[in-house]
Amino acid sequence: MSEITLDLRGLDKALAYAELDAHVRAVLEGIDDPITAMATVSCLVHHGFGHLWTGFYRVVASGLLRVGPYQGTLGCLEIAFGKGVCGTAAAEGRTVIVADVATFPGHISCDGRSRSEIVLPVRDRAASLIAVFDVDSERANAFDEADRRGLEQILGWFAGR
Ligand code: SME
Repeated sequence: MSEITLDLRGLDKALAYAELDAHVRAVLEGIDDPITAMATVSCLVHHGFGHLWTGFYRVVASGLLRVGPYQGTLGCLEIAFGKGVCGTAAAEGRTVIVADVATFPGHISCDGRSRSEIVLPVRDRAASLIAVFDVDSERANAFDEADRRGLEQILGWFAGR
């Protein structure tokens, strides 16, 4: 059965992400609906690691992100490209890791407990940017290259990889 929520805390990150990616793929077997996948990925990443806020901002118009499926306290509803960490990742089409949000100019604070975050671009099969995936932690410096690699692998689902 794949209908469980894994607890990956305490595991080596590379191992944790390998397990999580396999789990996500198993849960989404036969599903071809990006919103269902966003909800599933948000849930499994959030609870797997015990993050503060985990979810998607979707590209809904030129230069505009709107919140999609997420786990955590109330997220900002809309973010313009270029604003905050999410808007920067969207505008530049690259993963952004912020070790200390207090040092990021223009950081958008939806939950005052957030100390560090990672935001990754999400692309579809045509390589178009459809969303960004935002993960926030209560711990400073919570994210590194292992998180980038692991999350990029999971988000490859949206590109059919
Ligand atoms: N951290 C984001 C804002 C969104 S929330 O924290 C849910 C940013 O600065 O882009």
